[in-house]
Amino acid sequence: MFKYTCLNAISEKGTSLFGADFEKTEDIREADAVMIRSASMHEMELPPMLEAVARAGAGVNNIPLEKCAEQGIVVFNTPGANANGVKELVLAGLLLASRDIIGGVAWVQGEKDSEDLGKRAEKEKKHFAGCELKGKKLGIIGLGAIGVLVANAAVNLDMEVYGYDPYISVDGAWKLSRDIHHIQDVNDIYRECDYITIHVPLLDSTKEMINADALNQMKDGVVILNFARDLLVDEKAMIDALNQGKVKRYVVDFPTPAIAKTPGAIVIPHLGASTQESEDNCARMAAEELIDYLENGNIRHS
Ligand code: MLT
Repeated sequence: MFKYTCLNAISEKGTSLFGADFEKTEDIREADAVMIRSASMHEMELPPMLEAVARAGAGVNNIPLEKCAEQGIVVFNTPGANANGVKELVLAGLLLASRDIIGGVAWVQGEKDSEDLGKRAEKEKKHFAGCELKGKKLGIIGLGAIGVLVANAAVNLDMEVYGYDPYISVDGAWKLSRDIHHIQDVNDIYRECDYITIHVPLLDSTKEMINADALNQMKDGVVILNFARDLLVDEKAMIDALNQGKVKRYVVDFPTPAIAKTPGAIVIPHLGASTQESEDNCARMAAEELIDYLENGNIRHS
């Protein structure tokens, strides 16, 4: 099975790009560069001639950054290339958390042989009532490429949008969108918002940022969306919060058995960037970065 994005291409100067089965590391023993999607390189012996790694995606936590730095291997990513794909799935997550589409569709499937399905549905639908997003407060933690797209889309859904990003100045935030309220203290997002979506990279400083302390500050029945990285959320604290009804819905794009078994969790198998368009954009940007580096020594998005 191919676990990373690959292209078949030969550049003008002769750099060839080929696909290899990531599980057979001998396939890439001769590689000068590796382009990778989500598979982990942490356990892998790095090819001896490796000069560069391009991650066809935003997060680089599947790449051994320290080892690469020690060996002078440049690491690239493709910021923004899959942002629209992720944004669209976040919007789906907001809707799935608010309207009982999953319950309603499952009910229809279970009753599909019933002759009077339409009539029964009219009676049954009271069990699948939801709420609207209009007027609800959405907190966005991280206003990078994805966070900003989500923010603008949510404004267009008539949500009240609050953005927190310690790396963006108030002026910068105003330039992003005049309709996003720029919040200086993440605790205000925790305390005030009905929906909270996380769009930050996984770093030592962000690991388990959504922990028991953060959850305790939140409104009862808050909805949390995580399309960034699983370890940004303390899983045990989240399971407790779901079981207690503190968190009504946790929409997460990183499945683990424990979270998948917890009522209230909506678990997606890491599909944020799994669109033809996002995969093409990432593969193209990663390939261009590698070729430009190998042939011209240029470094972009490192
Ligand atoms: C990312 O970091 O951009 C995503 O994890 C991409 C992916 O799903 O490959």
